[in-house]
Amino acid sequence: MEVSIQVLFVCLGNICRSPIAEGTFQALVVSKKLDHIIQCDSAGTASYHTGALPDKRMRQVANQNGITLTHHARQFQSTDPQKFQYILAMDESNYKDIRRIMRSAQAPEEIEEQLFLYRKFDPQRGEELSVPDPYYGGISGFEEVFAITERCAKAFLDFLVEKHDLTYQ
Ligand code: 4NP
Repeated sequence: MEVSIQVLFVCLGNICRSPIAEGTFQALVVSKKLDHIIQCDSAGTASYHTGALPDKRMRQVANQNGITLTHHARQFQSTDPQKFQYILAMDESNYKDIRRIMRSAQAPEEIEEQLFLYRKFDPQRGEELSVPDPYYGGISGFEEVFAITERCAKAFLDFLVEKHDLTYQ
């Protein structure tokens, strides 16, 4: 049987960073013909935007780069770690919130092994561990988030390929 790898990207609102993380990673996975093995989704730790499409500015930057974002926001659930082997938090507060949600649901602590800070995969991150929240800023913040998530996608896919012994052309 072929392996199946489920990946969940998580930010606060699920309308800016995690949908573009999902979109850039999904596009890369499709381009490498690995989409029969790797599937992804995104969620927010907050519920303010549940059901909404990604922020217009995020969709605009995605469109300019050939990616259409169609995800509808949903809140992270304490049952998500049972479905997704990899949970990628966009920033340190998302990371803490995910751990808090899991604790309050009395869910197993093994979450530590599947929970990552996505920016750790950015070869250009320097000391910075977070994908910056672009919501209250201008379009350049959204362009920066696009560039960061595109770089992280490549490094994260390399990590999965090595870890699961996948091959692609
Ligand atoms: P995201 O950005 O977490 O990257 O989706 C935000 C979206 C909405 C809000 C904050 C951040 N908000 O406060 O509504």
